[in-house]
Amino acid sequence: MEIGNWRSVAGMDATYREARALGVETNIAELEAFGFTVVPPEKNGASKDFAKRLMAKVAQLAAEEDTSQVDLNKHENRPAYGRQLFHLLAKDPLFIEAAMNPVVRTFGSYLLGRSYLLYSMVAFLKEAPARSTPMHCDSVGVPTPLPFYGSVCNVSWVLTDYTVENGTLGMVPGSHRFCRHPTDFEQPKFVGGPMDEAMVTPVLAEPGSLIIFHGNTWHCTYPKTSETARAHIATAFCRNYINPAEDYSDLSPDLIKPYGDELARLVGRKAWQGYGAEGPKLDDMLLVRPAYQTMYG
Ligand SMILES: [Fe+2]
Repeated sequence: MEIGNWRSVAGMDATYREARALGVETNIAELEAFGFTVVPPEKNGASKDFAKRLMAKVAQLAAEEDTSQVDLNKHENRPAYGRQLFHLLAKDPLFIEAAMNPVVRTFGSYLLGRSYLLYSMVAFLKEAPARSTPMHCDSVGVPTPLPFYGSVCNVSWVLTDYTVENGTLGMVPGSHRFCRHPTDFEQPKFVGGPMDEAMVTPVLAEPGSLIIFHGNTWHCTYPKTSETARAHIATAFCRNYINPAEDYSDLSPDLIKPYGDELARLVGRKAWQGYGAEGPKLDDMLLVRPAYQTMYG
C-alpha cells in the first residue's frame, strides 16, 4: 500500500518509506518476528571494499592502542574476550561513514523513533581462539521487566566471515518478547550454563553484512576455535531519554560538518536536555517532538 503522510504515527511513515526505498522491509519483518535480522552486503548500499577498509582501520587502531589504558583490560571477569576498541567515531571519518549509512540509520529510527541517539560504536576483535561471551541483552541498566519496545538497538558491521568456528553471535529467536534479562539458569552449555543449546541459533554472515538486533534480544557468542581473525563493529543507538554510553563532546566539529544537523543531533549537539536557568532551547526541543515533522516541516 502507499504510505501517506500520517500524523498519528510519530514519524514512522517517513522511516517506513525509507525502509521500502532501501529494500529492507523483509528485514523489518524478521526483526519483528525474531528480534534479529541480517542485511547482506548487496543491500547495505556501501561500496564493495567497505568492510575491508573498516577492517584495515580496526587492525591499525588495535596495533597502535596502548591496551593498558583500556579499563576493561584490568578486570579478570570481563564479559567479552579479545580486544574491544571504544569511541571509534572520534578516531576516523570512516567510522562516521559507517554510522551514517542510510540502512544503518533506518533501523535506528525504526526501532527507537526518529529522535534516536548514537549510544556507542565499538569494535570487537578476536585474533586468537576465545571463550564465549555469556548470554545477555544490550539493555544495560534497564531493569527487568523490560518494555516490549527496545531502549537500545545494535547494528553491527560484520568485517570477517561469521561462522560458528569463528565465534559468531548466538541468538535466542523471539527473546525480544520475553521482556526480561536472561538469568544464570539460561546460559547455554557452551558458556558453562545449563540451558539447552538448541535454544540458541548462530548468525551466519559474510563480510560487509549488517547484523541488526532489538535491545531485548538475548545473545551470546560461540566459543571461537579458529585461528583466523574475527571482527565486527557494533553501532548502538538508544532512545532519546537514555543516557548514551559514550561521550561525544570531544568530537571535532570538522568531523560533524559533512553530515550536517543529523549527525549533530545523533551525537547530542542538539540535545534539549541539560539546560540551566535559561531553560531549554525551543528549536532543539521541537526537533524531538513527534508532531514536529508533520506540523512544521
Ligand atoms: Fe551484546
